Amino acid sequence: MRAAVLRTMGAPAPYADSRPLAIETVVAQPPGPGEVRVRVRAAGLCHSDLSVIDGSRPRPMPMLLGHEAAGEVVEAGDGVSTLRVGDRVVFSFVPMCGHCAPCACGRPVLCEPGAAANARGTLLGGAMRLHDAGCTPLHHHLGVSGFAEYAVVSEHSAVRVDADLPPKIAALFGCAVMTGVGAVVNTAGVRPGESVAVFGLGGVGLSALLGAAASSAWPLVAVDVVPAKLALARELGASHCIDAREGDVAAQVREATGGGADYSIETAGHAHVLATAYAATRRGGSTISVGLPAPDRMFSVPAVSLVAEERTVKGSYMGSAVPRRDIPRYVALYRAGRLPVDRLLTHTLALDGINAGFDRLASGEAIRQVVLFD
Ligand SMILES: NC(=O)c1ccc[n+]([C@@H]2O[C@H](COP(=O)([O-])OP(=O)(O)OC[C@H]3O[C@@H](n4cnc5c(N)ncnc54)[C@H](O)[C@@H]3O)[C@@H](O)[C@H]2O)c1
Ligand SMILES: [Zn+2]
Ligand SMILES: [Zn+2]
Repeated sequence: MRAAVLRTMGAPAPYADSRPLAIETVVAQPPGPGEVRVRVRAAGLCHSDLSVIDGSRPRPMPMLLGHEAAGEVVEAGDGVSTLRVGDRVVFSFVPMCGHCAPCACGRPVLCEPGAAANARGTLLGGAMRLHDAGCTPLHHHLGVSGFAEYAVVSEHSAVRVDADLPPKIAALFGCAVMTGVGAVVNTAGVRPGESVAVFGLGGVGLSALLGAAASSAWPLVAVDVVPAKLALARELGASHCIDAREGDVAAQVREATGGGADYSIETAGHAHVLATAYAATRRGGSTISVGLPAPDRMFSVPAVSLVAEERTVKGSYMGSAVPRRDIPRYVALYRAGRLPVDRLLTHTLALDGINAGFDRLASGEAIRQVVLFD
C-alpha cells in the first residue's frame, strides 16, 4: 500500500521542499488477535502530527504518521468482538484496554497499557504490523497510522459510526472534534450562561468554540493571531474576537466577560498562551490546557492564587472522552446542525500533497485538511 513515512524529525520548513514525509510502498501484515484491518478513506492533518515532524513532540522513528482518520473495516482478526467487516469507523488515538485502573474508573483516555503502547509506537497488544520495502519495521502513530491506504489497529482504537457519514467529515471526529468539544463538555463541564474564552482557533480550538456555542456559553470569546480565523469564529458563534498580537489579551478577555472567563480553553499549544489564558479567568475560574507545548516548556502561576481565588488548572487529553459514548453523540449533534464541524474543513488533498499540507497548517492558512484515498 502507499503510505507517508517519517524517518527523521526536525527537517527544515518549507516541507514542500524538504519532504519529511516520504510516500512509500509499505507492507501491512494481516490483523492479529483483537485487531482489524481498515481501508482508510480520509485522514486529517493535525498539529500533533506536525509536532512529531518538527521534533517538538518526539516519537520513535521511523513512523507512519496520522491519527485522525476514518474508514471501513475490511478484515477482522481472531476474537474481535466489537466490530465487523463492513463497519464504518472513526479511529480513536488512545486505545483502551478496558481493564486498567483508569479504564475501570471511566477515564479511558488515561488507559495505562494504551499510553505505554502509544509511547512505544506499537499497537495495544505490543505488535508492530507495518514494515517498509526493505523489511524495516515502522512504528505506529498513536495506534492509528492513518496516512496510508490501510491501517491495522486494535479493535479498541476504532469506534463504529453511521455508514452514510462522509469520510472527510467522519475523520474530523477522531481528533479535532473529540478533543475540542470534549474539553468543553467533559473536562470543563460548561453550563449555559457561563463564559468561555478559547485561545487558538485551529481545528481543536474551533471545535471547542463549537462545543461552547452548543452548550450556550456566553459571552464566548475567541483569541488567535490570524484574522481569517477570528472572522470564522465570529460566524460560528463567538461574541468577541481578540487578535492576540494586539494589546493586553488577558485584560481584553476580562473586559469582554465582565471580570474574567469562567473557563479559559488553551489550544494554541504554547506555555505562554496558557499563562495568558490563566490570567484571563475570573476568581473561581478554570483554565483547561489542551494544546501540547514541547516537553521542556514550563508554566508557573502565583501559587496562592489557586487557594485564595479558588482557581483551577486542568489538563484535557483527547477531550477527556469516552470515545464510544462521545463520538456518536457529537455526530448526532453535527447531523442536527448543532455542531457544524464541516466548517473546519478547508482543504482536501491527495497523499502526494501531504508535505505542502503541513506547510499550510504551520502558516495558519489552513484549518483542517483531509487526505482522501480513493
Ligand atoms: N489534548 C489533546 O488531546 C490534543 C489533541 C489534538 C491536538 N492537540 C494539540 O492542540 C494544539 C492545537 O492543535 P490544532 O491541530 O488545532 O493546531 P493548529 O495549528 O491548527 O491551531 C493552533 C492555533 O493557535 C493559534 N495561535 C498561535 N499563536 C497564538 C497566540 N499567541 N495566541 C492565540 N492563538 C495562537 C494559531 O494561529 C492556530 O490557529 C496543538 O498543540 C496540538 O498538538 C492536543
Ligand atoms: Zn490530533
Ligand atoms: Zn486501560
